[in-house]
Amino acid sequence: MRKKLVAGNWKMHKTLTEAKVWLQELLSHTLPSSAEAALMVPFTSLPAAQEVLSGSPVAFGAQDVSAHQEGAYTGEISAKMLADLGCKYTIIGHSERRAYHKEPDLLVAEKAKRLLEANIAPILCVGEPLEVREAGEAVFYTLKQLEGSLQGVNPGSPHNLVIAYEPVWAIGTGKNATPDDAENMHDEIRSWLSSRFGKEYAAGVRILYGGSVKPDNAAALFAQPNIDGGLAGGASLQLESYLLLLGAAR
Ligand code: 13P
Repeated sequence: MRKKLVAGNWKMHKTLTEAKVWLQELLSHTLPSSAEAALMVPFTSLPAAQEVLSGSPVAFGAQDVSAHQEGAYTGEISAKMLADLGCKYTIIGHSERRAYHKEPDLLVAEKAKRLLEANIAPILCVGEPLEVREAGEAVFYTLKQLEGSLQGVNPGSPHNLVIAYEPVWAIGTGKNATPDDAENMHDEIRSWLSSRFGKEYAAGVRILYGGSVKPDNAAALFAQPNIDGGLAGGASLQLESYLLLLGAAR
């Protein structure tokens, strides 16, 4: 059985102080036990997440990591530093980093290795742009991205790896994939994982959907057999909507 995961990606939002207040308020609510809650916060807010969430059932992590272990890499943050702050998960390969920072699949694979070495589960993002979907190539494109981003990566246990299918055209647009289209892609992703790591392994990996997940579409998406929760951007910034997403995952 895969426990659903509702991960928020705050992107470049909230100061340290704002994050602390938000997380404290989150813990003042009774959270449903049917799904795991996790917040992917800016690096600067990780100390607040560590202070507020340690010992709680809410997990947290970062939105990126360096592909290097340590050294003269000005401005970068290592997996060891993230582990020291208590990160359980960390996003890699988000389409915003692939687009704005030209991150190729093989760099994403190196990042996955660094996280796994530090006992942090990567939330690996894949997904096609609009022109690729319109050309009918969405599955081919997404599986190729998955293959490249996991090249040479050995996650060990299925709990150490989370995949997020995030079609680029659905991110921040208010246009989500239909539950059927998302389910179809998730099924393809699980089949690919099965051919690479074995059936039992693939059955244990959580595959999240991301791209305009909102309180009004979350329940239908999360009810699909291969959709194991969501990676929400905009809807994770307000406490009320994030709580509704959590409630929609059962
Ligand atoms: P939105 O939920 O704002 O569309 O963002 C999705 C996303 O990119 C999560 O990583």
